[in-house]
Amino acid sequence: MKNTVLTFKEAKKNGNKLSMITAYDYSTAKIFDEEGINSILVGDSLGMVMLGYEDTLSVTMEDMIHHTAAVSRGAKNALVVGDMPFLSYNLGIHDAVKNAGRFMKEGRADCVKLEGGKEVCDVIRAIVDAKIPVCAHIGLTPQAINALGGFKVQGKNLDSAKKLMEDALAVQEAGAFAVVIECVPDALAEKISKMLNIPTIGIGAGAGCDGQVLVYQDMLGMYSDFTPKFVKKFSDVGSQMRDGVKKYMKEVQDGTFPEEKHSFKIDKEIIDKL
Ligand code: KIV
Repeated sequence: MKNTVLTFKEAKKNGNKLSMITAYDYSTAKIFDEEGINSILVGDSLGMVMLGYEDTLSVTMEDMIHHTAAVSRGAKNALVVGDMPFLSYNLGIHDAVKNAGRFMKEGRADCVKLEGGKEVCDVIRAIVDAKIPVCAHIGLTPQAINALGGFKVQGKNLDSAKKLMEDALAVQEAGAFAVVIECVPDALAEKISKMLNIPTIGIGAGAGCDGQVLVYQDMLGMYSDFTPKFVKKFSDVGSQMRDGVKKYMKEVQDGTFPEEKHSFKIDKEIIDKL
C-alpha cells in the first residue's frame, strides 16, 4: 500500500512508529521499498555520502532533481521526500514554490523537506498552499552549520530548548505534515513529540519521537569519513563490498573469472574462417 501524508497522520493517531531512510538511486530505493519502509528521503546528505563534499552546502537543485527522479522510479510504496537544497527556498517565496514544484514535476517526489523553524514559516505556508506537502526539519539543520558553529547538539540550554519548542509549534501551524528533529536531547524531543499533532521523525533525538530516519550509508557501514554518535550500524555492507571486490580482482588476475558459464559461444567454423 502506498504511504502518503495520511499514513503519517494515522501513524501519529494510532501510536505506530514510522521508519524513514535515505536513498539516492533507483536500485537502493527499490530494495528499501520492497522491504516495506514507510518513507525514503532523498536527502541533501547526498552531497557528503554520494558526492564526497565535506558538507551539504554545494548541493544544487539539478543534483537533487536527478537523484529524486531515480529514487521515485524505484519506490512504489514508500513516501518519497525530496530535500530542498541550500538557498533553493531562502531567496523569496516565488523561487521556493517553483523549486518545490520541480521536485514534484520532474523528481516525482510525494513531498518536500526544508530546514528551519519560525523563519521559514511563510515559505512552508506558500508551498503547502500550492498543494505540495512539506516536512519541516528543526534542531541541527546542516545547511546552517556555519551559523551554528558546526555539527552540534541543539536545545541543551533553557533558551534554545524553548526556541525549539516554539519552532516546532510554528512549523506545525504553518502546515507541515511532519517534522524531522535532528541532534536534540531525547527528553526535549519527547516533549516536543507529545506536544505536536504531527509526527516527529528523529535522528539523534532519542526514542520518544514518532519515527526515526538514518542515512543508509551510515547505518549499513558504507561511509567511514565521519560517524555521528547517534548512528547504529545495523549491517556491515562496506566490509562485504571490500571482500567482494578483493575476490573479483584476484579471480581476474589469476584467470579464474570469467568461467565458461559467463561466456557467449560462436560456431568454431566461423572463428576458423576469420
Ligand atoms: O539530508 C539528509 O539526509 C537529512 C537527514 C539527516 C534527516 O536531512
